Amino acid sequence: MNAVFPGSFDPITSGHMDVLTRAAKIFDHVTVTVMHNARKQGRHLFTLEERMDILRGATAHLPNVRVDTFGGLLVDYMARQEPGSVILRGLRAVSDYEYELQIAHLNRQIGDAETVFIMAATRWSFVSSSMVREIASYGGDVSEMVPRASAAALRRKHADVYAEREAEKAEQRQAQQEQPGR
Ligand code: PNS
Repeated sequence: MNAVFPGSFDPITSGHMDVLTRAAKIFDHVTVTVMHNARKQGRHLFTLEERMDILRGATAHLPNVRVDTFGGLLVDYMARQEPGSVILRGLRAVSDYEYELQIAHLNRQIGDAETVFIMAATRWSFVSSSMVREIASYGGDVSEMVPRASAAALRRKHADVYAEREAEKAEQRQAQQEQPGR
C-alpha cells in the first residue's frame, strides 16, 4: 500500500521526519508531496525548489520514500496515484485534530480520498515549521527541531543573522574571560 504525505514543508521538521520514518516502516512506498499554489507563491520562506531539495536531503536514507510536488487539489493528485493509495497526515496534539478532521472529511467528500493519521512522538508536539522559521529568523538554535538538511538551509537563508549572533556571543565570552565574576 502507498501513502502520500502532503504538506508545505517550509521547511520539513523533526516532527514531520518522525511521522515519515514511522510511515516508511508501515507502507510499501511513501511519497512526500510539496503542495503548492501559484497564487500563494512568495508566502513561503523557501522556494518550491529549495523545499524539495531539503526534502531530498532529509529523506535520502529512506529507500521507499520519494519526493514530489503538485499544484492543485490534493484529491486530483490522489486520483493519479496507484489505486488504494491513502493520504498520510501527522498529528502532534489534540489541537491538530479538529483541523485535520475537517480536511480529511472534505477530501473524502470531494474525491473519495482516505486519510490515515500517524501520531508524532510527544517530544515533537511543540515543533512546527512556523516556530522553527521564527526562531531561525533571529539566529536561534533549531538543530534539535529539524533534520540536518533543514538546519543547514535555514543557516544559509539567515547567514547574516547567525553570523551577527555568533559574533555577539563570542564578544560576551571574551568579556567574561577578561573580567571573570562580572
Ligand atoms: O503543511 P500544511 O500547510 O499543513 O499542508 C496543508 C496541505 C498543503 C496538505 C493542504 O492545504 C492541501 O492539501 N492543499 C492542497 C489544496 C487542497 O486540496 N485543498 C483542499 C483541502 S483543504
